Amino acid sequence: MSLFITFEGPEGSGKTTQIRLLADLLAGEGLAITTTREPGGTRIGNAVRALLLDPEHTEMSLRAEALLFQAARAQLVDEVIRPALVAGAVVLCDRYADSTLAYQGYGHGQELEPLRQLGAYATGGLLPNLTVYLDIDVQAGLARKRAGAAEEWNRMENKAIAFHQRVREGYLRLAAGDLARWLVVDASQTAATIHAAVAARVSTLLRTMAGD
Ligand code: TYD
Repeated sequence: MSLFITFEGPEGSGKTTQIRLLADLLAGEGLAITTTREPGGTRIGNAVRALLLDPEHTEMSLRAEALLFQAARAQLVDEVIRPALVAGAVVLCDRYADSTLAYQGYGHGQELEPLRQLGAYATGGLLPNLTVYLDIDVQAGLARKRAGAAEEWNRMENKAIAFHQRVREGYLRLAAGDLARWLVVDASQTAATIHAAVAARVSTLLRTMAGD
């Protein structure tokens, strides 16, 4: 059964762990799983990712940045996500178009409507069946990330706390505007508790889709 689930959240919210736990659960149920991430997930996407996250690229304009994220996304959708969905897989993606609305839109103050239109263009209108937002206090999330892997501390993360607060508020607004698609989970809970909440929602979604 084809199903497209995206994970969103600030730095250090535990997306990677939750994607792995959900992938293991669904694979155990016999479903074919494709996991991927943004920006990246393809050869071209990884080249764009390197451009975006290079700490030396301080002169990058906000519009160039937004377009590069969309370019990496377009490649990922065409090369990985759509083919996997067509083949009947469950696709789990670490970040997707909502990241651009949260970071470039709410975080950097770029206009939302053009970003939405570019997102629709980049994805060919492909929306997730479910978007899991792992919500965590900004300070706690940043502290977790820093403790994890110092080398991951990159240009995108080296921003003021205020920026990350705007990103978080943006996510919460996006989620509140479409609760049919979004699941907001308190990411300060244990990984097992978070996973249980995600698994419950996914199981409901699978039942609904099987009944269609
Ligand atoms: P990454 O190391 O993948 O961070 P994370 O583990 O938090 O996903 O770096 C991706 C960074 O790029 C992250 O700070 C979020 C940011 N980003 C945007 O600003 N816009 C986007 O559209 C996407 C996909 C990511």
